[in-house]
Amino acid sequence: MLYELFLIAFQSFWFILPAYFANSTPVIAGGGTPVDFNKKLPDGEPILGPGKTWRGFFAGITAAVMIAGIQNYVQNHLDLSAYELIAMSLWLGFLLGVGAIIGDMAKSFFKRRLKIKSGAEWPLLDQLDFIAGALLFSMLSKTASAYLNWKIVLFLVVFTPLIHRATNIFAFKTHLKKVPW
Ligand code: CTP
Ligand code: MG
Repeated sequence: MLYELFLIAFQSFWFILPAYFANSTPVIAGGGTPVDFNKKLPDGEPILGPGKTWRGFFAGITAAVMIAGIQNYVQNHLDLSAYELIAMSLWLGFLLGVGAIIGDMAKSFFKRRLKIKSGAEWPLLDQLDFIAGALLFSMLSKTASAYLNWKIVLFLVVFTPLIHRATNIFAFKTHLKKVPW
């Protein structure tokens, strides 16, 4: 029972790691020109807001692909077959990265329509946006769509907000982020 939980945790993290990196790298590497070029919609609110930048977009996807490359290297050099991890590839890393970033931007779009200010908290959705995007885009990979199961999805949905919260409090305390969410 305990071993099974450990196994699901390991499989889930191995799968989602590129998305975690895609979501967190922009906090450090982002900034500059916003994706929406500061344009507003007729409702008077920005399309996405200043928190979504081109640099963050490309840095996030690059980080995801790089991590996937490292995972692929590790799997080629260590025998991890006992854990039945997904075979990570650059393609899957790319899909997870693009999905995470697009999921995050889609959430910002809806936040702005609801007049929630850029950077203000939208509990749970702020933490699950990139997971939803990453899972959705990963379905374009045959490997991922054959591999994913409800246990992994459930694990990610339950544990990501907790991990997200913990890392953001850390990023806030170390002055990487202005707010602890
Ligand atoms: N960031 C970025 N580009 C992205 C995503 C994030 O530059 N595509 C950077 C921004 O500096 C942003 C920070 O990472 O402020 C934190 O990201 P996030 O919490 O997703 O954005 P918020 O600023 O909270 O904006 P929103 O309310 O739209 O979620
Ligand atoms: Mg935020």
